[in-house]
Amino acid sequence: MDKKVTVIGAGNVGATAAQRLAEKQLCDVVLVDIVEGVPQGKALDLNEAAPIEKHDSHLTGTNSYEDSAGSDIVIITAGIPRKPGMSRDDLISTNAGIVKSVTQEVASRSPEAILIIVSNPLDAMCHVAFDTCGFPKERVIGMAGVLDSARFRAFISMELNVSVENTHAFVLGGHGDTMVPLPRYSTVAGIPITELLAQDRIDALVERTRNGGAEIVSLLKTGSAYYAPASAAVEMAESILKDKKKILPCAAYLQGEYGCQDLFIGVPVKLGSKGVEDIIEITLTDEEKQALQKSAAAVQELKDLLKTLG
Ligand code: APR
Repeated sequence: MDKKVTVIGAGNVGATAAQRLAEKQLCDVVLVDIVEGVPQGKALDLNEAAPIEKHDSHLTGTNSYEDSAGSDIVIITAGIPRKPGMSRDDLISTNAGIVKSVTQEVASRSPEAILIIVSNPLDAMCHVAFDTCGFPKERVIGMAGVLDSARFRAFISMELNVSVENTHAFVLGGHGDTMVPLPRYSTVAGIPITELLAQDRIDALVERTRNGGAEIVSLLKTGSAYYAPASAAVEMAESILKDKKKILPCAAYLQGEYGCQDLFIGVPVKLGSKGVEDIIEITLTDEEKQALQKSAAAVQELKDLLKTLG
């Protein structure tokens, strides 16, 4: 295939993302992990599924970053996932070190790549990758809003018993407890959910969306969600690889937009072959603005914490 995507981390999210990229025939995939044998085994297994799944994407599993050279996109999922009782923020010191080292490895070998960060705490890990790679801000993007809004959409569709395809949802802000689901901009067949659901039901869906990751962690007990996170990262990759210019909520580096300065946070962006091609500023009510500011303050706190970690 003429496009190449490297996925760093052959664990739950990384391997599932590799599978979805291949099955959608978007690109060849290089799966890199620090553990010997695991990326090789998973890539071989996926290649052996290809005749049945009918795709010609080739997967390479490796422990060597040399194989990642010249990638169009690098999806970074390396790191530890949370366990029950942990917040995403509890992962910061371990994952900051991992994300820094893998970013160094990939940036030198794929200087034109677009980085999609998945490791948590997401917004802080975007800062680590951005500071390490030296790429322009358009080429470092965090996966969070697509996942959070997919969760919101799933809950809206369950509540109203309508097709998920009719749903649309916006979730802004940091990928944590302070995220900002926006019911006014969330619709079913174009109708805002504020016209379809009572306020207490909307509040319940918003709360479930905020806790969507924790709900899965408490069920799985040994790790965190991966099917939906992988789908979300692949939707972003597809929009870039096919230059679709989809408007998707992603963590982007803001320089004044939404009143945020030098901060990665979830906002609607246009994703195309150049990466973040536009940041869309939507009108927010005072209450929504306050919620976004609170979320930005929480991300800023983590950004400051990163400095103390060195
Ligand atoms: N280089 C390459 N791979 C690494 C490194 C490293 N320095 N450190 C860890 N890994 C690999 C692990 O060996 C493992 O295979 O990252 C993989 C992580 O996989 P899982 O433990 O299954 O975690 P996963 O559920 O995929 O989550 C990964 O994404 O959604 C976030 O919060 C989640 O930060 C976590 C990340």
